[in-house]
Amino acid sequence: MPNARTGQAPELKIVPHRLNALTTEIFLAVGSEPLEAQRVADHLVAANLAGHDSHGVGMIPRYVEAIHEGVLKLNQHASIARDAGAVLSVDGAYGFGQVVACEAMAFGIERAQRLGICAVGLRRAHHIGRIGHWAEQCARAGLVSFHFVNVSGDPLVAPFGGIDGRFGTNPFCAAFPRAGRDPLVLDFATSAIAYGKTRVAFNKGVEVPAGTLIDHAGQPTSDPAVMHRQPFGALLAFGGAVAGHKGYGLAAMCEVFAGALTGGFTTRADTLVTSNAIVNCMLSVIIDPNAFDAPDSDTEAEQFIDWVKSARASVDGGEVLIPGEPEQRTRRERMAAGIPVDRTTWQQIVEVGRAVGLPAVQFEGIESK
Ligand SMILES: NC(=O)c1ccc[n+]([C@@H]2O[C@H](COP(=O)([O-])OP(=O)(O)OC[C@H]3O[C@@H](n4cnc5c(N)ncnc54)[C@H](O)[C@@H]3O)[C@@H](O)[C@H]2O)c1
Repeated sequence: MPNARTGQAPELKIVPHRLNALTTEIFLAVGSEPLEAQRVADHLVAANLAGHDSHGVGMIPRYVEAIHEGVLKLNQHASIARDAGAVLSVDGAYGFGQVVACEAMAFGIERAQRLGICAVGLRRAHHIGRIGHWAEQCARAGLVSFHFVNVSGDPLVAPFGGIDGRFGTNPFCAAFPRAGRDPLVLDFATSAIAYGKTRVAFNKGVEVPAGTLIDHAGQPTSDPAVMHRQPFGALLAFGGAVAGHKGYGLAAMCEVFAGALTGGFTTRADTLVTSNAIVNCMLSVIIDPNAFDAPDSDTEAEQFIDWVKSARASVDGGEVLIPGEPEQRTRRERMAAGIPVDRTTWQQIVEVGRAVGLPAVQFEGIESK
């Protein structure tokens, strides 16, 4: 049935490998080297597969704009600006976050495997997307990690007690690898919802959940348009009216750990980013669990997980999930049934693809049957 506000047809379901190939072609056409185009495509499609459409292929038009504006630089690599052994300062040179964050994690993984721990401060990266991706990279190497991220110069979220946007959606992420299983991955924006989820809702013509947004006068609203049309409102920190100080507090720590400690920059009046670029800085602490005197840590963690999941469900037919489980399930479903993409987002991707010179045939027959 068509959407009530936009009148658009239901969303498409796209075969993951076709979406990946199309995304790769778009970035090759823009000027990325093959490995860069592939890394960006892999990351965006992986975010869609994990169920985080806010950080999936819907970002393509904005990335292309940021390239044309000259802020997002093509074919850059991460470099170590200061090597202090277990502390690495890494410069992203405003390259694709999908490339420079991957390289920064590789530096940190090698050090943590050698020294037991490594703190990596990544600065001047363009959008590093779904942070869980980087925690999963560490977990695949058998390492625990936690990550504090700021979105430098992007004041979308109001501090608890205020009504003006003062900082970004500053995600926090932590992961714990599990032998023979997918890791525990906690990965969320410290805003009540990620900004990209307002874009997805706006494109779909649906409301966002109550308690996530205020309008320009500070009044609660569920209309995502307040983040996409003037006069702009703001996102609220997670925790809502009663516990918003918790989300705000974590966001503030993300801002200073990521924006200040890494040598990057925090959000304030004289650092506002006015282009389409998204600048991320990230403090990652990567730890080898074998460095602790805890030979039973795996078993301890598994027993806790079993115990938690044994709690009675709060609703009939419900169940207790652990962090990372929703993404694993969505990944399985979408690999089989295709990735849902709303018509507005698809149209935006087709327009960008055509504008960079891709032939129409690239967009045909891409739907899952
Ligand atoms: N790069 C950036 O600048 C930036 C900024 C903001 C957000 N992000 C990304 O946006 C994505 C989406 O963020 P979000 O805030 O919308 O995430 P979200 O609110 O969907 O929360 C996701 C997290 O909660 C866990 N979770 C969800 N339901 C659960 C349940 N029932 N039981 C146990 N755990 C559960 C998930 O496993 C996951 O770890 C994240 O991947 C984040 O990294 C990136």
